[in-house]
Amino acid sequence: MSKRIVVLGSQWGDEGKGKIVDLIAHSSKYVVRFQGGHNAGHTLVINGEKTILHLIPSGILHDNVMAILAPGMVVSPQALVTEMDELISKGVPVTKRLLLSDQATLLLPYHIAIDKAREQAKNKIGTTQRGIGPCYEDKVARRAFKIGELFASKDILSEIKEILAYYNFMLEHYYKVDTVRFEDVQKEVELAQERFAGLVCETTPLLHQALDADEQILFEGAQGTLLDIDHGTYPYVTSSHTSAGGVPASCGISPRVLDEILGVTKVYCTRVGSGPFPTELTEEVGASIQKQGQEFGATTGRPRRCGWFDAVMAKHCANINGFTALAMTKLDVLDHLAEIKICTGYQYLGEHRATPPNHADALELCEPVYETLPGWQASTKGVQQWAALPEKAKQYLQRLEELVGVKIAIVSTGPDREETLWVKKLLD
Ligand code: GDP
Ligand code: IMO
Ligand code: MG
Repeated sequence: MSKRIVVLGSQWGDEGKGKIVDLIAHSSKYVVRFQGGHNAGHTLVINGEKTILHLIPSGILHDNVMAILAPGMVVSPQALVTEMDELISKGVPVTKRLLLSDQATLLLPYHIAIDKAREQAKNKIGTTQRGIGPCYEDKVARRAFKIGELFASKDILSEIKEILAYYNFMLEHYYKVDTVRFEDVQKEVELAQERFAGLVCETTPLLHQALDADEQILFEGAQGTLLDIDHGTYPYVTSSHTSAGGVPASCGISPRVLDEILGVTKVYCTRVGSGPFPTELTEEVGASIQKQGQEFGATTGRPRRCGWFDAVMAKHCANINGFTALAMTKLDVLDHLAEIKICTGYQYLGEHRATPPNHADALELCEPVYETLPGWQASTKGVQQWAALPEKAKQYLQRLEELVGVKIAIVSTGPDREETLWVKKLLD
């Protein structure tokens, strides 16, 4: 039976969504990235060969799958062309497998300039400086340009020139940084017109047809639930709905069609950029997890902050998304530890809390309450059978499952597609 499956991150991003989407994409007609932009970095490793994707859905390496960039995305022409060309140079027939929604929003150089200027000023979010926030602001303010407008019979460049004047005024007089040259924006618009003409289409009716024909569709999230604009650790979040509710809103489909919502979850936590992180480990253990897990951003190269698994947050995210199953990743990264902690609650202003407080300032004051489990101190790297896992690793996973209240379907034991263990079959 075919299904409509959502795969999204249940922490602060970089949970291994790319690997899991690639793993299960082969039986889908469409793999749809539903939000965000080139702030994402999704890593696929197939027989040792690494591919990092930012905008293009992680199903692109399968020859029977069409990859869709949904209406809710923000798309930088330069970033998309660079990514397409990298894949083309590796022999991937991208233009045959990629569709770009005419409703997606154009992300242009002035969005990037504003993002960078803000990050250099005070109150840093620690963004990826890819222009994501300013572009979504334009969309909500109803002054953004849609991909479809690139191909409409109107003078989009003169409209862009007007908006650019507005941004350049802010850059020059408020942020006191360099302005953006119109010629650079024009070049990028022309690049998009040249390279995207054959890719752009109305993706919403296409998905409706696929639903009517009972086709399998995979929806791929970027970032993670704790970076959701409304449900994340605001204001240290991204500017889109990263949680499951974002799928129907962004793709123009009904929430009733979603069958599986798979939460991708590391067996510990990481976070890039600023913001509260209750279980963060700032000393030796954190450094050892960072080293073992190669925790450096796939987009910006920044070191990722590392910490223990936070079951308070995980349960909260399971409730927000309605996870039907979990994919637990990076088990092998904890192989070396003698003991492993799990956060099971918070102490907040003298009281116990089983759910996180909503504002970042309050979350900063939360002290994690830990439960300690023995480590397995044996290699799980590449293990493909549940029975072959060390007993203590099984106990750790079962405890996580119990605390989150969602069954584990997949355990990832290494970056490669093959380094995976299926606990429960999700697909026929
Ligand atoms: P995404 O943004 O959620 O797609 O995740 P990223 O690709 O940014 O970060 C996950 C990183 O962990 C990548 O470098 C993956 O290759 C790697 N990875 C994924 N699963 C595993 C695993 O089970 N074990 C190890 N050691 N690495 C993994
Ligand atoms: P993937 O899809 C981890 C973080 C940034 C910053 C905040 C806002 O690879 O999991 P933005 O540039 O979106 O305005 O930055 O969100 N962030 C990510 N962290 N993984 C990502 O994507 C991220 N995309 C954005 O570090 O804290
Ligand atoms: Mg990533």
